[in-house]
Amino acid sequence: MTQSNMLSIRAEFPSLNRLHHGEPLVYFDGPAGTQVPGSVMQAMTAYYVTHNANTHGQFVTTQESDKMLAEMRESVAAFLGARDTSTISIGANMTTLAFSLSRAFARAFKPGDEVVITQLDHEANRGPWLALEERGILVREVALRSDGTLDDEDMRQKITSHTRLVCIGMASNALGTVNNVALARELSSKVGAWLLLDAVHFAPHFLIDVEALQTDFLLCSAYKFYGPHVGLLYARPGLLDQLEPDRLRTQDQHAPFRIETGTQNHAALSGVKAAIEFIAALGHGSTLRQRLAQAMTTIGEHERAVAVELADRLRVIDGLTIYGPGFAGGRRAPTISFTLGRLSAEDVCRRLGERGICAWDGHFYAIRAMEVLGLLDRGGVTRMGICMYNTHDEAKRVAAAIERVRKSA
Ligand SMILES: Cc1ncc(COP(=O)(O)O)c(C=O)c1O
Repeated sequence: MTQSNMLSIRAEFPSLNRLHHGEPLVYFDGPAGTQVPGSVMQAMTAYYVTHNANTHGQFVTTQESDKMLAEMRESVAAFLGARDTSTISIGANMTTLAFSLSRAFARAFKPGDEVVITQLDHEANRGPWLALEERGILVREVALRSDGTLDDEDMRQKITSHTRLVCIGMASNALGTVNNVALARELSSKVGAWLLLDAVHFAPHFLIDVEALQTDFLLCSAYKFYGPHVGLLYARPGLLDQLEPDRLRTQDQHAPFRIETGTQNHAALSGVKAAIEFIAALGHGSTLRQRLAQAMTTIGEHERAVAVELADRLRVIDGLTIYGPGFAGGRRAPTISFTLGRLSAEDVCRRLGERGICAWDGHFYAIRAMEVLGLLDRGGVTRMGICMYNTHDEAKRVAAAIERVRKSA
């Protein structure tokens, strides 16, 4: 990405102008939620100013709301590579959608059936499936290796003829690992099990193509890709209609509405549409999907370059240990977690926070991974999340600040 492209992208985000003790804040907290461009804020405000109404009525604002929701679903379908909008459902957030699916799976599975999860995943892609144990369903865990990757051999062992569902993250929000979901698909297909992908950490950094992934379910969250707090579910055509999610008799009984309870957050949903259009505007092409595909390549290359620069600068700091796979070995999310000598991650983040650097400490809900890696007792790790608006200068500033934190400890 050229310097002038970068400046024009940054100019779209009002919050990037914020100063802290006279210096711009560095937002390396994207994995917990990215900053929001002005166009997304304007879309949400415009909804309240002009179109605010409930759905399916006989007057102008309700009809405009229906139209906006239909267009939002088209945008999300393009973002995920889905063929039609009947596959796209909305929820409060990813976790709430996963719990709702879990209750539907409880009605579809029988005692003795098995579900496979992983030790690397965020609890949102573990807890809802572990809850199935109450119904006599066996939940098996694919092991995490010390290099921060999942053990493929263990996955082969854990997926058996009893497996009904395999739940795996596409990318780790804690270590940046990009998982071998093709293997999970191959193994789950062989035994006739459904595949459910948590794409929350993957979506901001790489193009998703649900058709190529041949996934049954995919979940993600718009606040991780420059939108507001909304959860999104893709369910393969026809699949949601086979399930019995919690719902009212008064609501639409068919996919994609079948799992959408109550009134949705319409203003936020107009923001979701605007966020996808914002990303697409960074690419070229005659369709929204083509523009998104090109934009995601540009974003991914830029993020990777900044993350590699940061990792190279961090690696030479005395006593600093980076967890997760290296960048040389193929696809990896631009998310770098580390420990610094004996300092707790909370201490590191507090000292960085004083210097205007926003970074998270702890386990980030990937608590099982931190347990397995032996990092939980020492307070987890410090996480640096790179996204589209982060720069090489920020990487240099942050690395220098970490070196100063080390020296002053
Ligand atoms: C990988 C991953 N999965 C799931 C979630 C949960 O998403 P939500 O906050 O939308 O429930 C998160 C949130 O941090 C995440 O990073």
